[in-house]
Amino acid sequence: MRKIAVFGAGYIGLVTAACLAELGHTVAVRDIQDERIRLLNAGQVPIHEPGLAELIAGNAGRLTFTLSAEEALAGAEVVYVCVDTPPTAAGDADLSRVWSVIGTLKGAGRLKAVVVKSTVPVGTGARVRTVLDDSGLAHVGYAANPEFTAEGRAVADFMRPDRVVVGSSDEAAIRLVTELHAGVDAPVEVMDVASAEMVKLASNAMLMTRISFMNEIAVLCELTGADVERVAKAVGLDHRIGPHFLGAGIGWGGSCFPKDSEALKQLASNTGHHPQLLNAAIEVNNLQKRRAIQKLKDVLGGLDGARIAVLGMTFKPGTDDMREAPSTVLAARLLAEGAKVTCWDPLAPESLPEPWASAVRHATPEQAMAEADAAILATAWPELLQVPWEAVRDTMARPVLYDGRNLLDPAGMRALGYTYVGVGRP
Ligand code: UDX
Repeated sequence: MRKIAVFGAGYIGLVTAACLAELGHTVAVRDIQDERIRLLNAGQVPIHEPGLAELIAGNAGRLTFTLSAEEALAGAEVVYVCVDTPPTAAGDADLSRVWSVIGTLKGAGRLKAVVVKSTVPVGTGARVRTVLDDSGLAHVGYAANPEFTAEGRAVADFMRPDRVVVGSSDEAAIRLVTELHAGVDAPVEVMDVASAEMVKLASNAMLMTRISFMNEIAVLCELTGADVERVAKAVGLDHRIGPHFLGAGIGWGGSCFPKDSEALKQLASNTGHHPQLLNAAIEVNNLQKRRAIQKLKDVLGGLDGARIAVLGMTFKPGTDDMREAPSTVLAARLLAEGAKVTCWDPLAPESLPEPWASAVRHATPEQAMAEADAAILATAWPELLQVPWEAVRDTMARPVLYDGRNLLDPAGMRALGYTYVGVGRP
């Protein structure tokens, strides 16, 4: 069993650390945020991720949390880099946190390998290699080991992924990372560093493109009288296509897709290539929110002074994450059109900046919809299937529902007297 230092106590770092500890390794987690480390040392988990708190508690003997890089690196044989790479003002991935981790490694005497999980532009590993060589760490192996975990199922995605990707030119590092995954039920794909870096960006871009493609088909469905839900189901039954990420709606958000699509776009643009398909996928995604507001405006005959309930705020159900949530764009557009916004979400943090600071938050969807002129379903929380829609209808000023996730049954809602508008549904 190995001694590992994980840098970064965010979604990826904590899940990686907890899972490596579960596999029997001793893991020290380092983060620069006082509050985060304080909570972790007090036995609290600062993020919502199913199964993570149990895994951390169950492996408490093998997990430590610290603000000190030196402490985390003491005796470490492997360093996992799991820091975030947010966009710079130019839209490229900001690697400053990655570089500051690399800058702390000099004194780590037992270090054998640096493994990067953070999503980075293709070519980053080669640059890290040069910096390691120039800092007297030529004997330390380098491996790219991108993660493909989705929030809400991150622990399962680590323990039972579709594949483990290891990108390295160093045999010892490849052996080490492969060995760390003993106990993980998945094929290990070994390749060069640049290819491994590209796998992550290409996988995300493919998933985003599928969603945007179905959103474009949804527009054509609306224009021709077809139902995108039926279309997507039958298209997805083709084994060459598969059923996942064909869900039409108000589009993708979250901590990865928006940032990674932008970073890939800039990576392409910086090398002089115009990534047409990726650009189109991004544009379709942005349009979905604006189309939703326009449709609502048409149905209501204007939004000025209208009271609109936004149902669901997080970027997807099962998480408390508001990063790049499509609902935020909807709320901002509604306010810009002069609407009054009420909202509901079971997990979104209590205190949120604008546009949410201007919205009135309610404890239940029913309360958020009372006296509303319309509701927009923005996140497919299963709780919304349990709403007593018939009773709610009588409390609304006008029973108009824009189902931005195609969650509810159009015929059933119309039978209850709602003006139901979905995405790509007749
Ligand atoms: C994603 C990738 O799935 C994961 O592999 C990567 O490591 C990080 O980015 P995540 O951001 O957690 O994970 O969410 P995911 O479940 O993939 O959903 C992303 C967004 O796409 C959400 O806003 C979701 O609502 C939207 N989506 C997803 C659709 O609009 N339609 C779909 O069919 C599927």
